[in-house]
Amino acid sequence: MAEKKRLFTGLQSSGTLHIGNYFGALKPFADMCQEFESFLMIADYHSLTSLKDATAVRANTIEVVKAYIAAGIDPAQVVMFKQSDVAEHTELAWVLECQVTVPFLMQAHAYKDKVAKGLEANAGLFNYPMLMAADILLYDADVVPVGADQRQHVEYTREAAAKFNLSYGQTFKEPGEKIQEEVAIVPGIDGQKMSKSYKNTIPLFAGEEETTKAVMSIVTDSSGERPENVYAIHKLFKTEAELAPVYEANKGQYKVLKETLAADINAYLAPMRAKYAALTDDEVKKVLADGAQKAKAIAAAKMADVRQKVGVSL
Ligand code: ADP
Ligand code: TRP
Repeated sequence: MAEKKRLFTGLQSSGTLHIGNYFGALKPFADMCQEFESFLMIADYHSLTSLKDATAVRANTIEVVKAYIAAGIDPAQVVMFKQSDVAEHTELAWVLECQVTVPFLMQAHAYKDKVAKGLEANAGLFNYPMLMAADILLYDADVVPVGADQRQHVEYTREAAAKFNLSYGQTFKEPGEKIQEEVAIVPGIDGQKMSKSYKNTIPLFAGEEETTKAVMSIVTDSSGERPENVYAIHKLFKTEAELAPVYEANKGQYKVLKETLAADINAYLAPMRAKYAALTDDEVKKVLADGAQKAKAIAAAKMADVRQKVGVSL
């Protein structure tokens, strides 16, 4: 059998996960990761560009690892680790920052957007793409699955790799991105994109009551027979063929349809929620420690080569 290609992705863990995150990120990753030799990194140093609360940084890391395991990621198959545990990431970021120019980094959309929104333009935010490039390049990743908003950062990674290779000889593999464009946007309870910043979410790991409460407050317009916002979310949990008789029998009965949706969501998520609840923080720490060890072995070898090439190893 041909060797599996290597997949590397990172995520910034940021607060309570919702069903949009599940269908847009966790599930697609769970479905795809077995095809590859997969690395999943928690970008905790990246999160410091916007998060200054140590308790939240810790809690987010634990939460997101539990969520991915609950969603079906097997830590024995996927290397899960956090960025801060493998110091080579920040080390290589420095070397890469010395390859690219300030005007180049100033053109990064993510940086420009955040600055335009009035967020603090700290130097970490500015250098963010080179830390991400380091993440990817240390592992000779073939495939980097990212959302469309991160596409440019993968291009920046290729550019940094190419510049380094040109100056110092072939060292880094230029990675391909894999944009998850087929992932549909999950609408929130107000019909807009579900997002924690819009406070329109249905939480992934809350109790049944909280889920039901969120579902009962889905905004419906009272004109049609089928409440479209309810139906759009329902389709994620049941097939359209399963839903047809339910919506036919309950035309105009918005309350009943919402109750059915809440029950379907709770039933669908029950095994995942149970798995999440059963995981202890110590188990998560163990997974991350094991992952860090595996990641470190690869990153250290690559960094030793880089140190030789740039001349800091004597
Ligand atoms: P939020 O919008 O709640 O802040 P994030 O930006 O932290 O969510 O997104 C984390 C991941 O979840 C990303 O991969 C993103 O594409 C995915 N995601 C978030 N919201 C949705 C949604 N409503 N539909 C589909 N995917 C989503
Ligand atoms: N910047 C990415 C995001 O916010 C997270 C990330 C960090 C990443 N390092 C990475 C993604 C390396 C892919 C590869 O979504």
